[in-house]
Amino acid sequence: MVSLIFEAQTAVVYDVIGLGFGPANLAAAGALLEQPRETCPISVNKSLFIERHHEFRWHPGMLLPGTRMQISFLKDLATLRSPQSPITFVAYLHSQNRLVEFINRNCMTPTRKEYSDYLAHVARYVQGQGIKVAYGENVIAIEEGGEGTVLVHSIVLTTGETIIRRAKNLIISPGGSPRVPRCIQSISPHPRIIHSSAYLSSVEPMLDTMKTITRPLKIAVVGAGQSAVEVLLDLQSRLTSMGNSTGQAHDLHLIIRGGSLKSSDGGPFSNQVYNPEFVDVMYDLPSDSRRRVMADYEGTNYGVVNPITLDSLFNVMYDQRVDSDIARRKKNALAATDAHITIVTYSNLASAEISTHPSQTSTETETDTHTFSVLLQNTLTQVFSEATYDAIVCATGYERNSWLNLLKSSGLGKHFGLCATSDNTRLSVERDFRATINGKNGAFKAATNGINGHSRASVTGINGEKIHTQHTSTETKDSDTIYISRSHRLLPLQTASHESIPKIYLQGCAEETHGITETLLSVVGIRAGEVVEDLCSNY
Ligand SMILES: Cc1cc2nc3c(=O)[nH]c(=O)nc-3n(C[C@H](O)[C@H](O)[C@H](O)COP(=O)(O)OP(=O)(O)OC[C@H]3O[C@@H](n4cnc5c(N)ncnc54)[C@H](O)[C@@H]3O)c2cc1C
Ligand SMILES: NC(=O)c1ccc[n+]([C@@H]2O[C@H](COP(=O)([O-])OP(=O)(O)OC[C@H]3O[C@@H](n4cnc5c(N)ncnc54)[C@H](OP(=O)(O)O)[C@@H]3O)[C@@H](O)[C@H]2O)c1
Repeated sequence: MVSLIFEAQTAVVYDVIGLGFGPANLAAAGALLEQPRETCPISVNKSLFIERHHEFRWHPGMLLPGTRMQISFLKDLATLRSPQSPITFVAYLHSQNRLVEFINRNCMTPTRKEYSDYLAHVARYVQGQGIKVAYGENVIAIEEGGEGTVLVHSIVLTTGETIIRRAKNLIISPGGSPRVPRCIQSISPHPRIIHSSAYLSSVEPMLDTMKTITRPLKIAVVGAGQSAVEVLLDLQSRLTSMGNSTGQAHDLHLIIRGGSLKSSDGGPFSNQVYNPEFVDVMYDLPSDSRRRVMADYEGTNYGVVNPITLDSLFNVMYDQRVDSDIARRKKNALAATDAHITIVTYSNLASAEISTHPSQTSTETETDTHTFSVLLQNTLTQVFSEATYDAIVCATGYERNSWLNLLKSSGLGKHFGLCATSDNTRLSVERDFRATINGKNGAFKAATNGINGHSRASVTGINGEKIHTQHTSTETKDSDTIYISRSHRLLPLQTASHESIPKIYLQGCAEETHGITETLLSVVGIRAGEVVEDLCSNY
């Protein structure tokens, strides 16, 4: 029988609980430790972070060999806020006796392996300073705890027990959840359908299910972003090593909706949108202008690929052309056995079905005999074509709405203007909050639903859907707008008694109000400082 540990009934009331212990909350823990202890109202040993990983991990599913950070090491967890902090990347290098050799490397971007080790080092450091972390627990619900507290329900993943804890403040920093195209969701989970977020733990089990197939394999990777190309290159090398008894090459198709892969814009001028002060600029803009800016700079981060990774892919594809020209000249079709990459352009995955084939050997399970019949719709002509794949890897990005679902299913949501049944929630800024309270928002009508036409681009909203940008400067206010302060605190409606509502902070999910840096590391240290300062000053 599953037991329930009700810490909330005990005397423990945490000053703050953090949901998730990724870079955002790790930076918050570091910022908390920097507060002067004599005056800080938040006690370190009453601070707890709950993390579903069993130890500190940073995107372990994509920790591919040789991959590099997309950001300077100086934009670490603390340097921009507090260069003398013990949790900077330089302090980490120094502690590992690698500072000089890192300098000799002459490169601003560490490998993801090294950065991940840095983050794990900081996690150990903050825990050593008294910050508590409950690893291996998944937060499944929050609810009102009375007297300004929140109850946080989590499941211990190894035992299935539920723990309920009480806190005065909550910092929700859950990162993204895998976004999977709807047509793939209907045939998932399946061992031959994986999302890039779980690539490293799933790819070998996936390939194992295809070991008995004697013909060349055909695998689709969907997406045109950094993850898609990293996965494509890794799969190409795995399939090439796997070989094939027929001597024919395995096939890898990269399915993209556009006409070509695009380089990320990492130029120094575009990069200024990631400056800390740009968060103020974004926050102060009207919401339709914010959306236009987001759309303008989408190409610095989303659906784009680092030029170095693109060059690697281009070279692999060029090499396969050289191989096939040599094979043709020698009239030897079997010469090139490297897995063969094709980029399938202007193609949207419209539907996918499982087809079952008779088993070839007695050891095959039912899923081993599956293939996937997909319909690809040409995004220019709308014409459909059919294709069959043995496996599908979705490198289709992330959604950032898990916090919203938590809040919606709790009694707390209503205090922030959230309607439990709505699937159209907007985040908005404090200025609009004040205008709404003062009844001045009536003049702003009807643009957040994107119905006025003239859209020139689209960005992803907190519900994971595409929001079309507008040229008009109008704004909707309905019951499904949540307001967030510049310091990342959700603003309770004036109807509620403020003392009875716990303070809830949100990190990493507020692109709509705080701009494109929100989901990234660029200002993670500064943002953590803002959250902790607000937490301490509004106590
Ligand atoms: C492969 C990859 C590489 C990236 N590289 C870069 C880069 O080089 N530069 C950059 O700026 N950005 C990069 N990013 C963007 C990335 O979002 C940030 O690097 C960073 O991870 C954001 O930190 P976070 O703490 O907000 O989210 P996350 O790192 O996602 O951390 C959130 C944590 O919360 C935990 N969690 C979530 N929900 C629950 C729950 N209900 N209960 C318990 N625990 C929960 C998760 O397990 C996770 O550990 C990368 C993203 C990916 C996917
Ligand atoms: N080494 C690294 O540092 C590293 C590695 C991986 C990721 N990252 C970071 O992680 C973040 C996410 O990157 P990501 O590549 O995972 O995601 P992403 O940039 O959001 O790209 C997702 C891709 O999936 C496509 N897509 C989404 N839904 C689709 C559908 N239904 N059908 C077809 N295509 C669909 C999108 O197409 P459209 O473009 O047509 O919308 C887009 O090309 C970024 O910040 C990135 O920089 C960093």
